[in-house]
Parts: sequence; C-alpha cells; structure tokens
Amino acid sequence: MKVSVDPDRCQGHARCWDICPEVFDLDEQGHGTVTLPEVPARLEAKVSDAVANCPERAIVIG
Ligand code: F3S
Repeated sequence: MKVSVDPDRCQGHARCWDICPEVFDLDEQGHGTVTLPEVPARLEAKVSDAVANCPERAIVIG
C-alpha cells in the first residue's frame, strides 16, 4: 500500500496523525504529511482507518 496526502484538500484536521503517527505527521502549518509512504502490512489497517476519518478525504491510497 502507498499513501499520500493531497495538500490541496487537507485542512489540518490532524486525525491522520492522531490515528497513525507511524505514517503521518503535521508540517509547520499543521497540514498532514506522510513520513512512511510505503506502508508496511502491519500498519495498513490503521492507515485505512485514517483514510476513513479524514473529513476532507485528503488521504490518497495508491
Ligand atoms: Fe489533513 Fe485529513 Fe490529516 S484534513 S491533517 S489529511 S485528517
């Protein structure tokens, strides 16, 4: 699984980072970033949870 955050959609809700800090971080503006774009299998469920919880649908899989 590959993951990224669409900077045009992200509004800084930070749920991604809250749910899966192993993969997501926040930049200095408080927008979501990805620190581990090639998601290991053991974290895929958490990343899917983050995708489902982003109110802006800014997290992109694949
Ligand atoms: Fe942005 Fe969604 Fe995370 S709005 S900070 S990608 S929860």
